[in-house]
Amino acid sequence: MNTRVLVTVLFMVIVAVNKATATTGFIMNQTPTPLNVAVSNQKCNMTKYCGSLPSSCNPSSQSCYFASAQPDAAGFLFELSGNATGYIAATVTSNSAFGKNETTYICASGSSTVDFYTALLNNITLIPANMSVPSVNGTNNGIITQCLINTTIISATLVNIYNGSYNSTTRDLGNLNFLFQINVTPPLGNSTGSNDGITIQHSMTQALLITAGVLVLALM
Ligand SMILES: *[C@@H]1O[C@H](CO)[C@@H](O)[C@H](O)[C@H]1NC(C)=O
Ligand SMILES: *[C@@H]1O[C@H](CO)[C@@H](O)[C@H](O)[C@H]1NC(C)=O
Ligand SMILES: *[C@@H]1O[C@H](CO)[C@@H](O)[C@H](O)[C@H]1NC(C)=O
Ligand SMILES: *[C@@H]1O[C@H](CO)[C@@H](O)[C@H](O)[C@H]1NC(C)=O
Ligand SMILES: *[C@@H]1O[C@H](CO)[C@@H](O)[C@H](O)[C@H]1NC(C)=O
Ligand SMILES: *[C@@H]1O[C@H](CO)[C@@H](O)[C@H](O)[C@H]1NC(C)=O
Ligand SMILES: *[C@@H]1O[C@H](CO)[C@@H](O)[C@H](O)[C@H]1NC(C)=O
Ligand SMILES: *[C@@H]1O[C@H](CO)[C@@H](O)[C@H](O)[C@H]1NC(C)=O
Ligand SMILES: *[C@@H]1O[C@H](CO)[C@@H](O)[C@H](O)[C@H]1NC(C)=O
Ligand SMILES: *[C@@H]1O[C@H](CO)[C@@H](O)[C@H](O)[C@H]1NC(C)=O
Repeated sequence: MNTRVLVTVLFMVIVAVNKATATTGFIMNQTPTPLNVAVSNQKCNMTKYCGSLPSSCNPSSQSCYFASAQPDAAGFLFELSGNATGYIAATVTSNSAFGKNETTYICASGSSTVDFYTALLNNITLIPANMSVPSVNGTNNGIITQCLINTTIISATLVNIYNGSYNSTTRDLGNLNFLFQINVTPPLGNSTGSNDGITIQHSMTQALLITAGVLVLALM
């Protein structure tokens, strides 16, 4: 295979990968009850693991993407905050793998409502799957959408946070766009931790492009 063909093939693969994730047929898991307390970055690193885009953002006073994961005896408690133009999703892994059937919680914005879905991550596609959660609270003021999701997930190592477009009429979720990752394994209780925790920022597309570039260089 010559380099030109290889580049074309890689480009097609990247385009195919990026187009393969829109999913239809989601059924609402349960209707969120109102969220009475705004999601904030208080107690990050102390009682909960946090991440945000941009970093060090406080979602109670700024518009940004923010997520936290708080370990609890009964299961992790997740907070998601993001732009009220689409959805924000959290995929939880217990073995650091992503795309192999990991549970995903989705907080999606209707015009003034919050729709909650659960799904399984298969490669980079969300597969609708109705998984029960003890409770979900949500709020959408038209600018920011926030959710508080009480789960029964006990073991986790990493949480990936994604966003995407959402059509609340058809209940279609657009392609997953990777925002940041939260490591939920370091010890908590760090008194310096009043802001958001460590976030590793990269995008799936960037990672693919870099991989493609390296392959092309290696073969030239
Ligand atoms: C979540 O909803 C429940 C049930 O409506 C309510 O009791 C609780 O106070 C809410 N939690 C928050 C943080 O708003
Ligand atoms: C929210 O999304 C809208 C539409 O995509 C965009 O115009 C706006 O800048 C976004 N706000 C933030 C804070 O990202
Ligand atoms: C995917 O996860 C769901 C829910 O945990 C489980 O019911 C199902 O069997 C899993 N599928 C595969 C192929 O592992
Ligand atoms: C994920 O994608 C790869 C390559 O496209 C494919 O070989 C594999 O079967 C897919 N895995 C699942 C679980 O669909
Ligand atoms: C999804 O699961 C919840 C909790 O188990 C249940 O109350 C709800 O009816 C289910 N929804 C659908 C559409 O199956
Ligand atoms: C989460 O659900 C568990 C039951 O599974 C309950 O004991 C706990 O109080 C709930 N936590 C919150 C913050 O709602
Ligand atoms: C997802 O987040 C990115 C980065 O902030 C933003 O550019 C994009 O508009 C968001 N997508 C949607 C559908 O809001
Ligand atoms: C949602 O989908 C419907 C049906 O395809 C379409 O008419 C509508 O314009 C879409 N809404 C948005 C906000 O894209
Ligand atoms: C506490 O935070 C500091 C500064 O961010 C970091 O260097 C240290 O490793 C953290 N300690 C623990 C136990 O996480
Ligand atoms: C939170 O903890 C992480 C890892 O333990 C550390 O890298 C980060 O600097 C901490 N953040 C703050 C604000 O202390």
